[in-house]
Amino acid sequence: MRRILVTSALPYANGPIHLGHLVEYIQTDIWVRFQKLLGHRCIYVCADDTHGTAIMVTARRLGISEEELIARMYESHTRDFADFQIHFDNYGSTHSEENRELCGVVWAALRRAGLIVEKEVAQLFDPVQGTFLADRHVRGTCPRCRAPNQYGDNCDKCGATYSPSELIEPISAFSGVKPEVRTAKHLFVVIERLHDFLEEWTQRSGALQPEVANYLANVFLCEPLRDWDISRPAPYFGFEIPDAPGQYWYVWFDAPIGYMASTLQWCRRQGEDFDRWWRDPETEIHHFIGKDITYFHTLFWPAMLKTAGFCLPRKVHIHGFLTVNGEKMSKSKGTFVEAATYLKHLDPAYLRYYYAAKLGPQIEDIDLNLDEFVTKVNSDLVGNVINLASRLARLCEGKRLALLYPDDNGLFAQAAEQASAIAAAYEACDFNRAMRLVLQLGDRANQYVDRMAPWHLRKDPGKQEELRSVCTVGLNLFRVIALYLAPVLPKIAEKTGELLGKPIQHWDESQTPLLGVTVGQYQPLLSRARREQVEAMIAESREPEEAAEKAEGAASAANSSPAAAAWGKSRSPQEQDTAVSPEDDKPLVAEPLLPEISFDEFAKVDLRVARVLAAEDVPGAQKLLRLTLSLGGENKRTVFAGIKEAYRPEDLVGRLVILVANLAPRKMKFGISEGMILASGEGGKNVFLLSVDEGAKPGQRIH
Ligand code: 2FM
Ligand code: ZN
Repeated sequence: MRRILVTSALPYANGPIHLGHLVEYIQTDIWVRFQKLLGHRCIYVCADDTHGTAIMVTARRLGISEEELIARMYESHTRDFADFQIHFDNYGSTHSEENRELCGVVWAALRRAGLIVEKEVAQLFDPVQGTFLADRHVRGTCPRCRAPNQYGDNCDKCGATYSPSELIEPISAFSGVKPEVRTAKHLFVVIERLHDFLEEWTQRSGALQPEVANYLANVFLCEPLRDWDISRPAPYFGFEIPDAPGQYWYVWFDAPIGYMASTLQWCRRQGEDFDRWWRDPETEIHHFIGKDITYFHTLFWPAMLKTAGFCLPRKVHIHGFLTVNGEKMSKSKGTFVEAATYLKHLDPAYLRYYYAAKLGPQIEDIDLNLDEFVTKVNSDLVGNVINLASRLARLCEGKRLALLYPDDNGLFAQAAEQASAIAAAYEACDFNRAMRLVLQLGDRANQYVDRMAPWHLRKDPGKQEELRSVCTVGLNLFRVIALYLAPVLPKIAEKTGELLGKPIQHWDESQTPLLGVTVGQYQPLLSRARREQVEAMIAESREPEEAAEKAEGAASAANSSPAAAAWGKSRSPQEQDTAVSPEDDKPLVAEPLLPEISFDEFAKVDLRVARVLAAEDVPGAQKLLRLTLSLGGENKRTVFAGIKEAYRPEDLVGRLVILVANLAPRKMKFGISEGMILASGEGGKNVFLLSVDEGAKPGQRIH
């Protein structure tokens, strides 16, 4: 029996789980369920990744503490995982005492080995947020090709790499302001001292897919490894370094240690020995990750483990990204689908099966083609596998299966024989091959049922024993298929167990037919996927591309000229009450009323009074003004509003507006818009900002 410890990358506690994340968690969960079904000692641990600047800034934007934010995300992540039948033996958090403790252990080992050095680092600093900025949090024009809106470390357009201070007109992605350069002390790991070890481990241990080993050899290991910057100065949400006050461990130091911390939590709960899982070389550690975080897991992480005397990963399984309909997931196209939104419309079994059918052992990206999704689920899963069960079970309900297995022309033996090929495919993460092999068995079993036509036998009182034989063969073939699919479709395996009065528990049950049991009442196992369900999911996920710009383009125009400004001012509430002149019905014709919603649905929108602290022109943007809004106290938001043609910046400063405060931040060409202000109108000059009467306080909720 193997001892196997499996992890998936820890999701950031900064946003909800979406279909892109689920590729990895479903892949890992299938692999773990397969190992457990084989009878191996296998545990699956994961945790939320809770530290870093982005989490700090999100919490600030929401006006809550980091602890509150991570508690909310923990709740949402664990619910989504459970709903997708992704089962962890432990799901922890990097913001835990176990993690702090183990970070201390690894840190002490790095210090003892003399691998930590201190250096001054010049870094960009956001003066509004009062925080240093990671390279990904700075945007600006590429110094080489002049492409606008590029990240602080490399250019999407021409591939140039540079430091964020080289960007032309850099802005902070958090506040949109120009960052300052500040210097601070940082601690570094001199990872070059482990060069020989990393060369050996990456190239010869067998832990990595060959293309990954080549990539590391050609890109990193062909020259001295650069020192790894492992600390961040305050303010930073994380763990303060015990022997370096004011400095915090960089999130990528404590995140992978979170794998161990989650194991430690599990060990303490189960009375297990932590060192057996992390220091005994017999333990197989398997990490499942996406290709974007390869170098953290194949260079820094093994270097830390080696120095501190922990087990090295036996395998790092790396997968590609998810595309939807051949493109990057897109909010405006509605293909950036959150796990919870998917579940409102579709069965999780569909996605588990579809991803399994697409996943192979390579690092290729996988495409969720929504038309193919419906067709494949209906033809492979419902039309082949489920159809086999439903046709038979209805005819056999309440019947006892034969006591001796009938002659089936070798069908069961053939199915049993496939156990090793299918197991080898699962072991190698070649789920696509495993699914193809299982479907072939399904085809043969369905052909058998068609040939035997048990529906005719049922009508003939003299053929009841023959019917029993057909049911025995057919249901046993189905049971083997359900068993082979159990890692992918655990609910269906469970219901099959209930139908036949014996739970599916071990891979080897595929070798022996089940006899003499009474067939229970058939409960439908899975219904067909409908295109309308997919369309409804996409419609719910769709956010108009220029939503912020357009919707906010629905803002007051009045102040663009003195006359208009006067007109704007004349609309006092009293006048509105009395000025009841006949109106035309064009607005309602142009934009008909939407379907009714419940009060609870309305209450999800958090509308707040906000005061405009600053309004600035956005160079290069035709319609946008950048507004800095106050929600009271230190709570500020940056919002890009499409009101430039309608309002002069100086006329806006000081006035009250209404902010949609819980709208997800939107990355725009010129920075991140953290909410939306309410307005009406057709756009351009014809835009009217909504306001509240003076007396209302910034931050107050609008009910
Ligand atoms: O890239 C990410 O989403 C990280 N939160 C993954 C961390 S994995 C591990 F090292 F903890
Ligand atoms: Zn460029």
